[in-house]
Amino acid sequence: MTGAATRGACGPGVWGAPQSAAPDWREPTTEYDRAVRIRAAVLEEFGRPLVVQEVELAEPKAGEALVRLVACGVCHTDLYTASGADPTGYAPCVLGHEGAGVVERVGDGGPGLVTAGNHVVTLFAPECGECVHCRSPRTNRCVAIREQQGLGFLPDGTTRLHRHGEPLRHFMGTSTFAEYAVIPEIALAKVSPEAPLAGCAPFACGLSTGIGAALYTACVEPGSTCAVFGCGLVGLGCVIGCRLAGAGRIVAVDLSEQRLAEARHHGATDTRVAADDTVDWIRAETGGFGADYTFEATGSVGVMRQAAEAAREAWGLATMCGVAGKGETLDVVPRLLITGRRVAGTSFGGVKGRSQVPGLVDRWLAGEIDVDALVTSRVALDEVNDAFAAMERQEGIRTVIEFA
Ligand SMILES: NC(=O)c1ccc[n+]([C@@H]2O[C@H](COP(=O)([O-])OP(=O)(O)OC[C@H]3O[C@@H](n4cnc5c(N)ncnc54)[C@H](O)[C@@H]3O)[C@@H](O)[C@H]2O)c1
Ligand SMILES: [Zn+2]
Ligand SMILES: [Zn+2]
Repeated sequence: MTGAATRGACGPGVWGAPQSAAPDWREPTTEYDRAVRIRAAVLEEFGRPLVVQEVELAEPKAGEALVRLVACGVCHTDLYTASGADPTGYAPCVLGHEGAGVVERVGDGGPGLVTAGNHVVTLFAPECGECVHCRSPRTNRCVAIREQQGLGFLPDGTTRLHRHGEPLRHFMGTSTFAEYAVIPEIALAKVSPEAPLAGCAPFACGLSTGIGAALYTACVEPGSTCAVFGCGLVGLGCVIGCRLAGAGRIVAVDLSEQRLAEARHHGATDTRVAADDTVDWIRAETGGFGADYTFEATGSVGVMRQAAEAAREAWGLATMCGVAGKGETLDVVPRLLITGRRVAGTSFGGVKGRSQVPGLVDRWLAGEIDVDALVTSRVALDEVNDAFAAMERQEGIRTVIEFA
């Protein structure tokens, strides 16, 4: 935070073109009585580099918390939205959703789920604990704040972010490419203060998605045979989750030998460079049947099809983690399903964020997950576009922004 008490109008307004750099602060209104200036990476226009700049952040209201970000991972979804490929994307907004930090204060009159000083992981998938989906053990698809979050607003339909007095939309309810963020309390998982926050950041999205896909969506059984297609952070998370579940055999498939070496480090028992005969090879290695559990973590619908085809006849479950391109569809021969294969998808690995992320972080602290090997680069907020470029070149596994 670089200054205090800048004021402006609150609530959704006219979404105009990016403002000029010259400050044009408005007079205070009753609704918006205090704000601070923070540095944040703003998606001004699709397909253009993010612009790191000062924006205004208002105080948290009831049910919200002000979080000082310590670290934030740079995820494919940020890049996907920045590119304009995401049909639900909007600009301008402050990107970032893989955040970890410390609660500074909470708005008066809220549920008190977090308090000042708590170490937290941000949750793009919140957990209210009360809605129809939170009450079911079968899903993490909390519906409490979905509609406003999808539009870029906090639950009351307004933004805490502003620029030159005009509302600036949030992203995935988090907007963590910023020094500070105001986030709903139900979208913060309290984690052990012993855990270094740079290592907590990947648990906010990619790592939990992969681990959860194995533990909570597929519910991998001990001794089973698993095949993981794609060994980025999400796929490596699947490998880790399969290992934690006690899988007997974990086959990792990727185009890159280097990524396969990473997969072996995290628990893969077999690795295979992706080729046209991958499905045949998996079937041949499993008595002609296929793997008990397969996981897709590439975003390619062709690989999704392979994952479905490589799942075992009779009870094989293929879990899709990847986000496919706009308009793409998954092509599966129905006979594969009639003969017992099942296809599932997973959002955030089926992880109920507030209940289950703290336990995953504890498993890291217990030495069961090697997070250090997954955080391959640490940069400053100003280097966020370099992190996107490295991701496009498939350099490293995860870049984490560290805030000074
Ligand atoms: N479901 C969710 O909630 C969720 C959360 C985070 C990310 N994702 C999605 O998961 C996917 C993976 O994310 P990531 O960060 O691990 O991506 P990544 O790009 O780091 O990893 C993808 C891996 O797939 C490999 N690959 C590409 N083509 C392949 C092929 N034909 N066969 C085998 N491997 C192949 C690449 O070499 C790479 O190692 C993305 O689509 C991302 O958007 C989903
Ligand atoms: Zn993500
Ligand atoms: Zn809920």
